[in-house]
Amino acid sequence: MEQNMPGAAITMPRIGDKAPAFKAVTTQGDIIFPDQYTGSWIILFSHPADFTPVCTSEFMTFATLESKFSDVNCKLVGLSVDGLYSHIAWLRTIKDKIQYKGMKDVEVKFPLIEDITMEVARKYGMIQPGESSTKAVRAVFVIDPKGIIRAIIYYPLSLGRNFDELYRVVVALQTADAFSVATPADWRPGDDVIVPTAGSCGVAKERMENKTDMTCYDWFFCTKKIDKDTVFNTITKKK
Ligand code: BEZ
Repeated sequence: MEQNMPGAAITMPRIGDKAPAFKAVTTQGDIIFPDQYTGSWIILFSHPADFTPVCTSEFMTFATLESKFSDVNCKLVGLSVDGLYSHIAWLRTIKDKIQYKGMKDVEVKFPLIEDITMEVARKYGMIQPGESSTKAVRAVFVIDPKGIIRAIIYYPLSLGRNFDELYRVVVALQTADAFSVATPADWRPGDDVIVPTAGSCGVAKERMENKTDMTCYDWFFCTKKIDKDTVFNTITKKK
């Protein structure tokens, strides 16, 4: 049985995989994914349906934050299994009619993919039949400038996403790449980052004797400071 057809096994791309390729029609014209985004970070995200309240709150929030994502070289691409004319009508309604939490006149300028055949949604494991077999769940794929999937987050239909968290994920991944570090729990730009564990007893000893600029909680757990300006100056220069 062919993959990604109704009844076929559900495929789920994984972190570290090349983002599955597709061509699609969107509210901003046709796209070739991920090739036309090479050199940019991408958030590919799905929503269950147009003209629904949680999705509307999400689109208004994401569209309002788009320039913030753009500043860190990250493009947004949405998807649902609705058709193009539904997408266009919904986005027009959002712009013309909806005022929500101080947001109004919100124009969604990023592409919204029509996927009535569910081809893309199936390819990305966005259809999770236990939740719904006719709507995509709220999936988020963070894809790097080489087209590699770097983070995947799924939410159920009823739960609107936290877009500050999605921004934090993009900045944390870029920071990890730029400085060869990891980021601890609840990290925000300006917080200390985690340096790779010492590869030798000598290095570990030096660190534990406070002979470096690091703070060590034990030989395997050391952090160092990278201030917020350095983070943003570095990741935005890498564009
Ligand atoms: C919503 O966006 O409000 C929604 C969509 C599908 C199921 C439940 C809620």
